[in-house]
Amino acid sequence: MSLKTKIAVLGSGNGSNFTSLAEACNKDSLRAKITLVISDVKEAKILNRAKELGIPNKFINPGKFRTKLDDTAEAAYIKALKDSGAQWVALAGFMRILKGDFLRAFEQKVINIHPSLLPAFPGLEAWKQAYDYGVKVTGCTVHLVDYGIDTGRILAQGVVPVLESDTSTTLYQRIQEEEQRLYPSTLARLFNNKI
Ligand code: GAR
Repeated sequence: MSLKTKIAVLGSGNGSNFTSLAEACNKDSLRAKITLVISDVKEAKILNRAKELGIPNKFINPGKFRTKLDDTAEAAYIKALKDSGAQWVALAGFMRILKGDFLRAFEQKVINIHPSLLPAFPGLEAWKQAYDYGVKVTGCTVHLVDYGIDTGRILAQGVVPVLESDTSTTLYQRIQEEEQRLYPSTLARLFNNKI
């Protein structure tokens, strides 16, 4: 029987993607173990969800910048992740850009989920950008993280049609449902060397 892949999750918000990964690990449809959840937001729901599920979790202060980790914080994140034994880092709504030392510490091992069909609509509130643009289909993308913003190699995409009756809120709800299906199934394929 193959060993479970060890993953850590970074998130800043509600943790619905994290929860879908944790549930897939519990059901063994994703043969992985979540070793640690870190948030840059002290009161983030993702930390409570991890607590409820009995998964190690911690807030680590991101430091003085708004959109990235400062050097001290970056070193603390890397140390905590390495100490947890994580082989892969899955971003699940982590709203900071990771750079240099972090990406070198986990070379080609950082994955992200983004709420649009990249390369269209990178950046913040991607579902709203797509809705406002007037696209007829959108969706979500699982990709490797590189030095750009939402530019790494695409691993999988899920398509969500835009309905006549949609508001940006209802559209985003369906994108999130698709995210919760796509993220665990893509990681399962990745860890089984099927991608
Ligand atoms: C998700 O929709 C994810 O795609 C998005 O944040 C949300 C987090 O929700 N990420 C980005 O926009 C990254 N560019 P969650 O905390 O409930 O998983």
